[in-house]
Amino acid sequence: MGKIILTGDRPTGRLHIGHYVGSLRRRKELQDKGDYEKFYIEIADAQALTDNYDNPKKIRENVLEVALDYLAVGIDPNKVTIFIQSEVPSLCELTFYYMNLVTLARLERNPTVKEELKLRKFENSIPTGFLTYPISQAADISGFGATIVPVGEDQLPMIEQTREIVRSFNSIYGETLSLPTAVLPENESCLRLPGTDGMAKMSKSLGNCIYLADEPEVIEKKIMSMYTDPNHLRVEDPGKVEGNTVFTYLDVFCKDEDFAKYLPEYKNLDELKDHYRRGGLGDVKIKRFLNNVIQAELEPIRNRRKEWQKRIPEVYEILRKGTEDANKHCLSVTNRVKSAMGINYFEDSSLVDEYVSKYEEEN
Ligand code: TRP
Repeated sequence: MGKIILTGDRPTGRLHIGHYVGSLRRRKELQDKGDYEKFYIEIADAQALTDNYDNPKKIRENVLEVALDYLAVGIDPNKVTIFIQSEVPSLCELTFYYMNLVTLARLERNPTVKEELKLRKFENSIPTGFLTYPISQAADISGFGATIVPVGEDQLPMIEQTREIVRSFNSIYGETLSLPTAVLPENESCLRLPGTDGMAKMSKSLGNCIYLADEPEVIEKKIMSMYTDPNHLRVEDPGKVEGNTVFTYLDVFCKDEDFAKYLPEYKNLDELKDHYRRGGLGDVKIKRFLNNVIQAELEPIRNRRKEWQKRIPEVYEILRKGTEDANKHCLSVTNRVKSAMGINYFEDSSLVDEYVSKYEEEN
């Protein structure tokens, strides 16, 4: 069997350029290469509910937004199956059986969960659903036999936990589940794109994101007010490139051709950085350049999104069909899991036969 790729997002808001460089761009490349048997993208609404259970409206509203963002970056529903997690009930079933294979201590050790718990201030009243979501994510991945999981760095602990569950299941019940591997973006700055304010992560609550759906004026405003080097006060001053968000973004987005197009005094980013370090290069100039580069990258995405926005019933249909397909695949894996565990009572009559012969021998 060929490769099975699976990844997903929590539908808690529209997707931004952090998602784009951290994962969406890679998905599009993988799709275009076509070197796979199946490619699934999950809209993880049930997972999103583990810390938004009191605000289901937010999740409901964002399911279609996220689907639009996928289509906007060029995900082709004929090549990739997009589905909604909560509409695949076998995933809950798998989660329940996997729970037996994971200790509470192991869940509490998961670094991503630890960080999220701190952020959400659950303190001593951690909802069980939240603590156990890595188990449900293991079901998402293994329930489709996924071997390749393209994700951002923060998801590595989830893939590691999935691998442990898969190994444990296979050693107890026999070789059944496939072992997944995480695939990270290759450019280091893409691992975690900082917010426009220089904070470690783009996050809706910090208001430091550039969204894929943002209009050109909004993008420009966000870029022109970006965090640079706080000590670079006058143009003549030498500036710092490391930790300077404009340069971090340029590392991620700009190509040598962009210089020929928008800033022909320089051949490439190294020359621009050298000048900035020496002094004599103003922030406005590098921001204008970054704005040109990002606008060019986001324009086709925004336009494609607008086209799909006119065809919402079609998007809905893509999700319905994708979810139907996902259900079929996941059900077949779940049946294999149940049969490995011997809880496939009605699959055939072997259970009855076993009992019949047991009692025949006794009589
Ligand atoms: N936890 C992921 C996130 O927060 C979303 C997700 C859910 C996921 N299920 C997945 C990612 C399966 C990869 C594979 O972004």
